[in-house]
Amino acid sequence: MHDNPPRASRILIVDDTPANIDVLDQMLEAEGHQISVAASGEAALDLAPKIAPDLILLDIMMPGIDGFETCRRLTADPATKDIPVLFITAKSDAEDVVKGFSLGAVDYIAKPFREQEVLTRVRFHLQRKHLIEEMKDKNRKLTEVNDLKNKFLGMASHDLKNPITSIRGYARILLDQGGKLPEETRTEFLEAIHEISGHMLELLGDLLNISMIESGHLNLCLKNDSLAALVEERLRVHRFLAEKKNIVLHASLAKLPPFAFDASRIGQAIDNLLSNAIKFSPPDKNIHIALEDADGHAKFSVRDEGPGLSEEDQGKLFGPFQKLANRPTGDEPSHGLGLAITKKMVEAHHGRLSVESAPGAGSTFSFEIPMQSETP
Ligand SMILES: Nc1ncnc2c1ncn2[C@@H]1O[C@H](COP(=O)(O)OP(=O)(O)OP(=O)(O)O)[C@@H](O)[C@H]1O
Ligand SMILES: [Mg+2]
Repeated sequence: MHDNPPRASRILIVDDTPANIDVLDQMLEAEGHQISVAASGEAALDLAPKIAPDLILLDIMMPGIDGFETCRRLTADPATKDIPVLFITAKSDAEDVVKGFSLGAVDYIAKPFREQEVLTRVRFHLQRKHLIEEMKDKNRKLTEVNDLKNKFLGMASHDLKNPITSIRGYARILLDQGGKLPEETRTEFLEAIHEISGHMLELLGDLLNISMIESGHLNLCLKNDSLAALVEERLRVHRFLAEKKNIVLHASLAKLPPFAFDASRIGQAIDNLLSNAIKFSPPDKNIHIALEDADGHAKFSVRDEGPGLSEEDQGKLFGPFQKLANRPTGDEPSHGLGLAITKKMVEAHHGRLSVESAPGAGSTFSFEIPMQSETP
């Protein structure tokens, strides 16, 4: 429980008697609150949705629509229904009190009031509102995490089921007809099993990464190293994959001074940007890779001549499980996890991942991480 409600809450006083307003105004302002005033029910109904007060002090007997009707309308309007309404009135027969509560008021203060009583009740209701908002916020976050977990399970079961089915299929054929199959075919099947299970391992690795990131357990192993050497090493692997699609990789790598980074995590980021450029480009295209010093940051970028991305897809790119309009051009696996992981890996190094793209104009993905010899 919080001891204090948030300071500077906004309170709307609704009363037609200036003397009452003055007393309440001074008292509540001295507590650090911001006060707005409405001299009638109509004015309150007009003002409340605009200023969204944290609490309303409402008189009952006013010319025009009275406090009861004002309260009824405030609690019926979605824009104002969560604002606590406290009646503060000379009309305090048991019947009136009951009517007030039945219309949605949260409390009732009789006039003439005692200053301390008003302040205590106001404090209590502000605190209560604050706690309710906190709870709603936590609930929203829990719902988000739960949705993510459901997506996670849905995707894992879907994307793992297909490869397992293929592996079982190959194994069945090898068991049933292994002896009769030509050596070549047997090797082909075993290679398929090996490759498919490799993809499954990669996917499981990515799922573990995502769950580790989401639960906040991403630990970096920082070592002074050459980023250019790491990029060179990763390029060797991807050149081989690019050749299958007749895609040419052009690299221009500055020799940056060694600095502290986690080679395995940044290697994953490099791998994903390179594999995406190759995966989503049609055959016979070029990919330009650059490493440069951008104002004390190591900037790694990958520019492709692929399909490019719409503004809408660019907005979704970095969330987990985002398979977007562009699909792989060579039947490569796609789980929509790589960029979400890349973003977290880069951010863990206090860096930034960004994209520049337009439909039909290719894409450039880049990340920048600060070069510093000390632990980031
Ligand atoms: N260079 C690119 N050109 C065009 N579209 C891209 C490019 N990179 C990513 N995308 C789009 O963004 C989506 C998300 O990319 P991300 O790397 O997160 O997942 P993925 O490559 O589909 O799967 P994974 O990386 O998990 O194997 C892709 O499915 C694709 O639609
Ligand atoms: Mg990817």
